[in-house]
Amino acid sequence: MSTGQTPPRSQSVEAILSAATTPTRAALRTLGELVGNEPTTVLSPTQFAVRHLGADQLELASTKFNGPSTSLAVLGNLLRIEMERHAGRIVVGSPGDDLPPTWSQLDIGPDEKVAVPGRLIVFFPAGTLAAAPLCVTIDDRHWQREFAILSLQADKDLAEKTLEAFRARLKTHENPLRGRVLEACVNDGCVRITASAALTGDRGGLILPDDVWQEVDVFLASATSRRDLLKSLGLGTNRGMLIAGPPGVGKTHLVRVIAAELAGRYTTILADANAMRHTIADLYAESDTFGPTLVVLDDIDLVLGHRDGSGSNTSLADFLSTLDGVRQRDDILTIATTNDPKSLDPAAQRSSRFDMVITLPMPDAASRMRILERHLRPLGLDLDFHALAEVLEGASGADVKEVIRRAVLEHGERFTHAQLVEIAESGRWQTTVNRRKYL
Ligand SMILES: Nc1ncnc2c1ncn2[C@@H]1O[C@H](COP(=O)(O)OP(=O)(O)OP(=O)(O)O)[C@@H](O)[C@H]1O
Ligand SMILES: [Mg+2]
Repeated sequence: MSTGQTPPRSQSVEAILSAATTPTRAALRTLGELVGNEPTTVLSPTQFAVRHLGADQLELASTKFNGPSTSLAVLGNLLRIEMERHAGRIVVGSPGDDLPPTWSQLDIGPDEKVAVPGRLIVFFPAGTLAAAPLCVTIDDRHWQREFAILSLQADKDLAEKTLEAFRARLKTHENPLRGRVLEACVNDGCVRITASAALTGDRGGLILPDDVWQEVDVFLASATSRRDLLKSLGLGTNRGMLIAGPPGVGKTHLVRVIAAELAGRYTTILADANAMRHTIADLYAESDTFGPTLVVLDDIDLVLGHRDGSGSNTSLADFLSTLDGVRQRDDILTIATTNDPKSLDPAAQRSSRFDMVITLPMPDAASRMRILERHLRPLGLDLDFHALAEVLEGASGADVKEVIRRAVLEHGERFTHAQLVEIAESGRWQTTVNRRKYL
């Protein structure tokens, strides 16, 4: 149907973008990223480099880094930063095989994700990324995992320096995963590393015997005061600690305290044993990405040992020998917690691949009193803490807190000593379902 009007002339990209709403601009940008901005037919990365570097194929040099998946994703994030920094001057091209450039996702916080280049090539003209023109390619397919710089042969040194500079940036604040708390899980046979919230906890909130804290300090010394000395003596700074003890005595709480003390300097990886089995080789290969690492296996006996009766369980010994096999990396602390050390494979205990086993005891009367005081003092009530601690004979730290919680739920901020004793003795603070608490 003709309206008799002349069709509107095509607008410039700037005009379209300036008129668009923010979400539309974001959508257009994503679309642009997906299709790339290389206007001509799809070229292979080599053809792309030949064209943009203005060279013969024989004059091209390739400087490569093959890294594990998380390293590659973080390098991809740095490439994205450079692409944004030089937007307007760069050219994004296809990864070959007639495919458009692809982008992947990197989790950098509990609800924060960034799109990072997955498979593509980017041309950076002279004076952007480096003094000479360079092409950067990335390919995150698991059998490829390559980050490479294509340059003229004459610029190979510069390409090598540029690649080194990218890798050095993995060790700085520009790596959003370093020093964070990460979770490793296995999904459809693939290991996924996601960033989670920081762990909080301080020693004041956890009432433990002095000798336990002394052992914790010895364990931590390989990461703190004795680290350099151990290294200079060639003694290695990897340590493993098994925290054992009955339910509710503060094992998980202690892990949080340790992780909080190492936060920023150590990357914490919370992994179930399945994830550890799958990731261990990668994890040790990722030293550039994670730096010093605290690996936490909370409730190790839930996954290992004598669990489902199917006979298919991996023993702790098998698992720990995997740990043993890849010792070339320094600065790895491993902490596992267990309710029942006896249920763990005896061979593993004998071989004592954990350098330390700390057993957290049930709190004695003095400790129960301190836990009571810590939580009840702020209310300023007339309570006999000493007597309450006696009434709570046999209670774990978790039990003591549960009694207090029940009193607050029933009476609010004002209750009497007798009311608290009545609750403690009634047992109604105990829940019937599994009361395990996880990190
Ligand atoms: N000694 C303690 N001092 C202060 N609080 C404690 C102590 N022991 C346990 N708690 C408190 O009890 C709760 C449960 O502790 P936590 O989850 O660390 O126990 P756990 O030993 O890991 O138990 P589980 O074996 O069931 O996993 C937490 O809120 C913790 O703060
Ligand atoms: Mg626990």
